Amino acid sequence: MKAALSSVPEKQQQDSEFLRDVLEGLGGKRKTLPCKYLYDEVGSRLFEDICEVSDYYLTRTEASIFATNLKDIADKIGPEALLIEPGAGNCEKIEALLAQLESPKGYYPIDISPEILLNAEHRIKANQPEMQVWSAVGDFTQPDVWDQLTQLPSRKRVVFFPGSTIGNFEPDKAEQLLELFAANLGVGDGLLIGTDLVKDSVRLERAYHDSEHVTERFNKNLLNRINTELEADFDLSLFAHRAFYHQLRKRVEMHLVSLKDHSVSVAGTRVEFSEGETIHTENSHKYSISDFNQLLARGGFRPICHWKDAAASYAIHYAQAI
Ligand code: AVJ
Repeated sequence: MKAALSSVPEKQQQDSEFLRDVLEGLGGKRKTLPCKYLYDEVGSRLFEDICEVSDYYLTRTEASIFATNLKDIADKIGPEALLIEPGAGNCEKIEALLAQLESPKGYYPIDISPEILLNAEHRIKANQPEMQVWSAVGDFTQPDVWDQLTQLPSRKRVVFFPGSTIGNFEPDKAEQLLELFAANLGVGDGLLIGTDLVKDSVRLERAYHDSEHVTERFNKNLLNRINTELEADFDLSLFAHRAFYHQLRKRVEMHLVSLKDHSVSVAGTRVEFSEGETIHTENSHKYSISDFNQLLARGGFRPICHWKDAAASYAIHYAQAI
């Protein structure tokens, strides 16, 4: 496990990784930026605002499915479980579930932000003094942050991956991530995972192009971040937010569209934009139940059951490692 607080060299290394990824993403024929960079401090706050927007139905729908089925979900998990949450953030979603479980063995949140994890750990310990919490700081897609798990006691391990975060991964990467989860679980251990379901494109597109323009600010914040952290001179007024549902790929794509021919300097490198050219900033894959069951199987899991809202907008799946 990494040290609790990031040291100065680590910060410099993160900056140079960011610069490398930005230059690589903007240097290609089709411009793209890794979506993980949307979530700096400002971006994470904007995402929390998105979750409150009425057009963005995902977060509140998932919360209502959890609230309605909490006892059933806890029963599926069973007694003496250790819950693992990759990308836990403020750990708010799991608290009610932890409280519902029969004699839980503990909680293992993984997140890149040590400050947020520490706060969450304090809050959980205050609300549930008996709960054992082992926080792991790091990128959950990297196997090393899972290492500590082998030493922890439990009858059963369950990976908790809510929020439709799996939708951010392209299908082959999503499969690899499930394989990483499975590699850290024993046969019969669980996976509790939330996915947004395929639905009409109007509703999907509204969720990512909301009438309050919060998603637009979230998307454009990436350019602001590049300006401040990497000495770039993006003019935000020369880009428009675009989100559309790609029927064939079953995903909402988020882009920033250049409104005219112009060039931008990024840490001394000139990047040319033509009118209408886009930077692809995020994918949000949508699944039918059967599509997702197939993905689970490819990733090393047997689908057991799922819970949906009445309108079948969203699903929470329970699967077991094979
Ligand atoms: C946090 C990845 C689940 O894809 O719905 C929301 C991110 N982007 N609006 C999603 C997001 C634009 C969100 N996830």
